[in-house]
Amino acid sequence: MSFSLYIDCSGLVEGLEKYHCLKNLHDKVPCSEWVTDTRSLPKGSLILGFEEDVLCLCRAGDKEKPVFVDFVGGKAGHRRKFGGGKGQDIAKAVGLNKGVTPHVLDGTGGLGRDAFVLATLGCSVTLIERSPVIAALLQDGIDRARLAPEVAAIANRMKLINEDSRQAMQTMAADSQQFDVVYLDPMFPHREKSALVKKEMRIFQDLLSGDPDADELLAPAEALAAYRVVVKRPKHAPDLSDKEPTYRLEGKACRYDIYAFKAFGKDK
Ligand SMILES: C[S@@+](CC[C@H](N)C(=O)[O-])C[C@H]1O[C@@H](n2cnc3c(N)ncnc32)[C@H](O)[C@@H]1O
Repeated sequence: MSFSLYIDCSGLVEGLEKYHCLKNLHDKVPCSEWVTDTRSLPKGSLILGFEEDVLCLCRAGDKEKPVFVDFVGGKAGHRRKFGGGKGQDIAKAVGLNKGVTPHVLDGTGGLGRDAFVLATLGCSVTLIERSPVIAALLQDGIDRARLAPEVAAIANRMKLINEDSRQAMQTMAADSQQFDVVYLDPMFPHREKSALVKKEMRIFQDLLSGDPDADELLAPAEALAAYRVVVKRPKHAPDLSDKEPTYRLEGKACRYDIYAFKAFGKDK
């Protein structure tokens, strides 16, 4: 890995905020902060760096594949080609089966998988992600996708904001902005023991310490959404903010709670 940045989890967010979204990371981070020999790092510590042109997150001393965003090939590419289009649960949840193509705000962007599915189906998606590290991985994936002819148009429908969406949504509502749909997928503590949790999820857990303030997302989302708020939840999870949705869509691995305000097609 070239241009590696050692991430000390204890000071992570404070330490990295100054690089704002870590775009053009190698130009912005002073040389003194780059790690040239990652073998010197404590085993298991997190490293953010480039492998060829791809921004990756991995662990020192770990032989597993690093975490990075790939919208062109891999799982995202497969789902784009064979994923079931507007018949997918997420598509139904945001209303794509009603003959509309809503403008979506994804308030918990993560690695952008859900947003990419919606953008593939024609939605414009504004994503908000508060972790500067996750935002950097995501922005890097979007930037590379914009250069790939087969997905460039999709990636151009995705816009990332590196902020906390609780404040960002309030500011947007105060500016009289509206989105057709606000989509939320906050992390929920996993019941499985750590060895069974997917590697990517473990890195997320170490990096982000869960989303303990997730309940605070619902009210500002409701203030911003013209038609509906959609909340993705693990099947066993309680309702976000203990608020019962208008209805639920039960999927295989998760459920979608829909807080509906107005039918599509009605005036805003
Ligand atoms: C489960 S992941 C989302 C995965 C995403 N739906 C995907 O398809 O890749 C949750 C993400 O939401 C982010 N998040 C949680 N609360 C947030 C907030 N208040 N503002 C912005 N991002 C937030 C976390 O940092 C984390 O990256």
